[in-house]
Amino acid sequence: MSGTPHRYALVGTGARATMYTNAVVERSDKARLVALADTNPHRIEHHAAAVEAAGAPRPAAYAAADFDRLLTETEPDTVIVTCVDAYHHEYILAALASDCNVICEKPLTTTGEHAAAILEAERKSAGAVTVTFNYRYNPIHEKVADLLREGAVGEVVSVGFDWLLDTRHGADYFRRWHRLADQSGGLLVHKSGHHFDLVNWWLDSAPVQAFARGKLAFYGENGERHGHDRGYERANGAPQASGDPFALDMKENEQLKALYLDAEEADGYIRDQNVFAPGVTIYDDMMALVDYENGATLSYRLTAYSPWEGYRVHFNGTEGRLELLVVENDHVNPDQHGPNGAQLHGSAASPEEGWYELTVHPFWAKPNRIDVGEYERKGHGGGDRRMLGVLFDGDTDPHDRSATAQDGVNALAAGLASNESIATGQPIAVADLLK
Ligand SMILES: NC(=O)c1ccc[n+]([C@@H]2O[C@H](COP(=O)([O-])OP(=O)(O)OC[C@H]3O[C@@H](n4cnc5c(N)ncnc54)[C@H](O)[C@@H]3O)[C@@H](O)[C@H]2O)c1
Repeated sequence: MSGTPHRYALVGTGARATMYTNAVVERSDKARLVALADTNPHRIEHHAAAVEAAGAPRPAAYAAADFDRLLTETEPDTVIVTCVDAYHHEYILAALASDCNVICEKPLTTTGEHAAAILEAERKSAGAVTVTFNYRYNPIHEKVADLLREGAVGEVVSVGFDWLLDTRHGADYFRRWHRLADQSGGLLVHKSGHHFDLVNWWLDSAPVQAFARGKLAFYGENGERHGHDRGYERANGAPQASGDPFALDMKENEQLKALYLDAEEADGYIRDQNVFAPGVTIYDDMMALVDYENGATLSYRLTAYSPWEGYRVHFNGTEGRLELLVVENDHVNPDQHGPNGAQLHGSAASPEEGWYELTVHPFWAKPNRIDVGEYERKGHGGGDRRMLGVLFDGDTDPHDRSATAQDGVNALAAGLASNESIATGQPIAVADLLK
């Protein structure tokens, strides 16, 4: 392809950044990563070196505090935001003020005030925001969208959604910044945003009110009561962590060691805290009732300490019922092996083993099992790969999967209203939160 390459800058050089830096580097004929920013110079260097090793020009490095200078000096067309959730808005607002486009990881932001500011800034900017809700791009979820739009169950009256995070993936939110509500918004914002977004997209509607309950019942100091806590602060260097399936061993994992263990001295970001150590300010068990603009209702659950990972969702309609079961992992393997086959402590990051059952139950007829092909076993059911095609290659998007800033706000709204409802014990109107 000829022409000037599209210029990307990325802020937040942690684990998720890798998917985007790879995507840009793999498209060197039409894309160039011009700059990286973070509060931690070690993590910037890790990614900059990887880009260079892959044969692309080395991106310029900027401290996060110098982001405005990055914008004027390196003139990106698009800014990719993959930093800690609570700071997304800072970079989105700066990028929009410079008329750049933004590709932002979910959640769009963590407060109603920042959400409103982003919508306002986008209205005034020549740039536009895309929120990367990768679950929309999973072929099973597209099929659900198609079936509902074709009227397979008539008008949707109510939705049930039960999402389980296992004691490997779910536990990981209790080891680092996600465990603090002021950094992640809690799991109803950080994680459920995916699920609320799916429901918004499937129903083609938006939440208006939520009533919720939430508690921290398993992780944090509860571990002592339940007998799971081994009484250390962080796994690295703690003899008690040996053999603990909840511990994370960073030393033997090249990526974890380089990104976090070797980078600690710059900012004190500890990636391997004991999930049962004190200080957790988020919930691990949550439920919400959400009312939608179109009259549909949602009953939703998120459990972050499940023995298996996956979800069930069902739609009750005026012509029948649609049911989906997805098992991403049917159990957590407590054995993790190092490079020499040595057994380490901590549960294995097992690859996705997904299988699914998608069924339409019409009235007066046999259930109809729907085949969407084999489940793609990595990158969120194949969602990541297909999303990158739309983001970076302009692949066609007949399912309208590309999410706008308003979609990001609508996904956030149900989580914010749920958090407020838990705090106050009252049902909370979404409109009151987005001012
Ligand atoms: N869609 C998905 O499936 C998915 C998966 C993983 C992560 N994510 C999202 O990606 C983002 C990053 O997650 P991660 O797992 O890579 O986390 P991470 O902790 O590995 O990386 C976060 C990075 O942000 C940096 N940072 C912290 N404060 C900052 C600030 N004020 N300014 C600039 N940078 C700052 C940290 O130094 C770190 O390098 C989050 O928003 C998360 O929600 C999405």
